[in-house]
Amino acid sequence: MSEEQIAASNRAAELRERLIRANIDYFSLDKPTIADSEYDAMMRELTDLEQRFPEIATDDSPTQRVGTAPVRGFSPHTHRVPMLSLGNAFNESEIRAFDGRVKRFLGLDAGVAVEYCAELKIDGLAVSLTYQDRALVTAATRGDGGTGEEITANIRTVSSVPRTLPADAPDFIEVRGEIYMTHAEFARINAERETTGEATFANPRNAAAGGLRQLDPRVTASRNLAGFFYAIGGNSGGVPATQTALLEMLRSWGFPVIRDYRLCKSIDKVIAFVDEAPSIKETLPFDIDGIVIKVNAIALQNDLGSVGRTPRWAIAYKFPAQQGRTRIIDIIVQVGRTGALTPVALVEPVVLPPSSTVQRATLHNQDEIDRKDVRIGDTVLIQKAGDVIPEIVSVVLSERPEASEPFRMPESCPACGEAVVRPEGEAVARCPNKSGCPAQQAQRVLHFVSRAAMDIEGLGDERVLQLLDAGLIRDGADLYALKKENLLPLDRMGDKLASNIIDAIEGSKRRPLSRLVYALGIRHVGEHVADLLAAQFGGIDALRNATISDLANVHEIGPAISESIVAFFASSETDELLRKLADAGVDPRTVNVAVSNKLAGQTFVFTGALKLSTREAAEQRVRELGGRASGSVSKLTSFVVAGENAGSKLDKARTLGVRVLTEEEWQAMSVDATSD
Ligand code: IVH
Repeated sequence: MSEEQIAASNRAAELRERLIRANIDYFSLDKPTIADSEYDAMMRELTDLEQRFPEIATDDSPTQRVGTAPVRGFSPHTHRVPMLSLGNAFNESEIRAFDGRVKRFLGLDAGVAVEYCAELKIDGLAVSLTYQDRALVTAATRGDGGTGEEITANIRTVSSVPRTLPADAPDFIEVRGEIYMTHAEFARINAERETTGEATFANPRNAAAGGLRQLDPRVTASRNLAGFFYAIGGNSGGVPATQTALLEMLRSWGFPVIRDYRLCKSIDKVIAFVDEAPSIKETLPFDIDGIVIKVNAIALQNDLGSVGRTPRWAIAYKFPAQQGRTRIIDIIVQVGRTGALTPVALVEPVVLPPSSTVQRATLHNQDEIDRKDVRIGDTVLIQKAGDVIPEIVSVVLSERPEASEPFRMPESCPACGEAVVRPEGEAVARCPNKSGCPAQQAQRVLHFVSRAAMDIEGLGDERVLQLLDAGLIRDGADLYALKKENLLPLDRMGDKLASNIIDAIEGSKRRPLSRLVYALGIRHVGEHVADLLAAQFGGIDALRNATISDLANVHEIGPAISESIVAFFASSETDELLRKLADAGVDPRTVNVAVSNKLAGQTFVFTGALKLSTREAAEQRVRELGGRASGSVSKLTSFVVAGENAGSKLDKARTLGVRVLTEEEWQAMSVDATSD
């Protein structure tokens, strides 16, 4: 290196250190130590140096965290208690049916009234905040309910989120709520984006979601997000007796709690509140999309429990769909990964209140098209109910153009030309050309890399098509054989991007088995069934060797799913795919949760720096063996596992006489508990 380079490199290192320090002070400690202008000047100087001397640039430089730098994922965060999702009710009779189910389950007489807490349903994003020793330590998104993404730095920019809790809060607690954006802020941001030529957001929820998923918390801060809190997850004690008391407790701790919740002595009172809700909605400075109805007594909630990830004790009433009028420009036919042909209407862009723009709507299949008699050129009513894809409600016949003709699905596949088949009694037409149809192939790969599957970042629609077109891959497994040299000749590909894609592919090898099972794209195997299969069979080979009756013995799996799985594994294409995955070393395993319940009833607390595994992995292990992992020590704790430099928790364990294990002792215990 020349002297000039050495000087630049030293200065860059100093700037990086100061910028990182400033970020920590600003975002993590909430105590800015330098002025924004000084921060900006340092950032400019560093960017400049790195451009002039590219050889001194580093991946972890603060300059790489803004704007165009490739998006790195957030780290996963496992919720101590899963975050549930709610079933929906769309009208009064569905709300009454919910009340009926609650009573039946509790063995109550139909005439007895159950008390409910009805709350406005904020249209935002669910988050879970973890407080340890009354200080905010992590914040995470809901994710799949079990594991979300850690977004602590971003949540710290939300000014209404308390950083610390008062003395009456427990040592450990997960507080759950919704992050949202006000209408005013949404309008301000969109106006600003319009002037800078950036794409505007369709609605406040999307704008809030984009804000939370920023790698640079300064961007999140600029979105001025807000939050409302309404639930708790894992905690080390002191759960109030009712939901209404819980809301007041959260309020007393400094959390923003929605004003409009109502204690309803019976379901009739709930319905009265639901009737009032649209007029309340009009007055609010933010979006709500319904009312959440919760059994008020926490003891009854516990009795009711949940089915899967949906509680029996709560339901979301959703406001009726928002409708709009538009015209059908064209009807196209898409080919899905299982060969299903889906007609999709392309419509003139229409804004559905409050603020989402729609340009396409699914028409499902030929039967649906016939039933509604939808034709190209028709004026139609379109709606978006809840979070579902927009759909056509009806045709305004009086406005039908004279020359219009009924729409007929094509007889051959629009992608490969193969004759379409539609088995007797089925609504869906399919392209049977499983291995040769380019559309199916592309959809299978897109499914394989998608977020809920192998989650390979950097591989969007266009990139995947590019890889297929270039003949570099034929299926998802081929991705693992790609080398950087294969990518470099592609259009719009640079050195850095190629490295990132290869890294992302490599990183996906560590995804859990359930995701790989889902990624395979077996018909009828969605995320939930994939979870069940992964837990039951523990590895791809065991699943592949399962017979129809092995499969049908798994709770919740019926004959249609079983047959589809067996058929999938019987094909030679699957053999090929699995062989390539195995060659690449993609072979995740799940410890069968059902194997051992050896640690049932035991609570573990891990503290200090662990060297044999991460704390998260150790806690996961405890759960797999039937035990409980907790963040704080109490007299109910069975064991404290102390790593290096363990502090106050170790002291507390000693004071309370809780058994303390070394990490090695814990490992021996977990091996023991696994072995039979
Ligand atoms: S309670 C089991 N209360 O709506 C308890 N959820 O459709 C689950 N939401 O995932 C949540 N406002 O993100 C609850 N007052 C409220 C809510 C609320 C908005 C969201 C939340 C949840 C989704 C369910």
